[in-house]
Amino acid sequence: MRLDVAFTPAEVKGAIGRRVVVVIDVLRATSTMVEALVNGARSILPVAGVDEAVRKADELGRETVLLCGERDAVPIRGFQLGNSPLEFTREVVVGKILVMTTTNGTSALLAATAGSSCLAGSLLNARAVARRLVELDGDALLMCSGREGRFALEDALCAGRIARHVRELGKSVSGNDALRATLRLSRSPPSLETLVRTAAGRRLDEIGRRDDIAFCAQENRYDAVPVLDEHRIRL
Ligand code: MLT
Repeated sequence: MRLDVAFTPAEVKGAIGRRVVVVIDVLRATSTMVEALVNGARSILPVAGVDEAVRKADELGRETVLLCGERDAVPIRGFQLGNSPLEFTREVVVGKILVMTTTNGTSALLAATAGSSCLAGSLLNARAVARRLVELDGDALLMCSGREGRFALEDALCAGRIARHVRELGKSVSGNDALRATLRLSRSPPSLETLVRTAAGRRLDEIGRRDDIAFCAQENRYDAVPVLDEHRIRL
């Protein structure tokens, strides 16, 4: 299987082709999406901007919609939820449509719609995503959301873990140098300390969200693979 890695969406702008794309934003967008859908959210609508999110919520009807998201890791004023996976409990999200806008993760998902299919990947569902890639058995791209257009170590480590799980499932993988780099970096799941020391981790720690990092660090907690289909992310 050909498995390439992009450290930022910009690296593959206009060059995604008909590959399966796995969008990764460990801290925290795709981790939160997995948690919300596992807890019964009906679907997630990723949007680029705050005003657009509010418009979409009005359009869909506020009784079934929750507005979610962050800027600079802090919840957006007037939204019901931020971007902490710990907020998206079953009591809060079951049966709801989540309109979500975040700094990096949602824009990466919107950039990935060009692919043949788009999955949301995180450490929480790394092996489940690998299993899905093996089932799909096509060329794939592991697209890291990055951080404001730059390399994010936590996403690269997660890409490496997913690739290692694909190998552990008996599939040989070949790909670009970025893939080889992530494979070397990811012999074992990243520790909490490693994630806390990333740029995103330091910001979350600074605002007292270390628990979020610990939650997002749990490899293979879920066997769930969110799929982006017609602008909605569902399980
Ligand atoms: C993002 O999408 O930029 C991140 O998930 C931000 C965050 O959760 O702090």
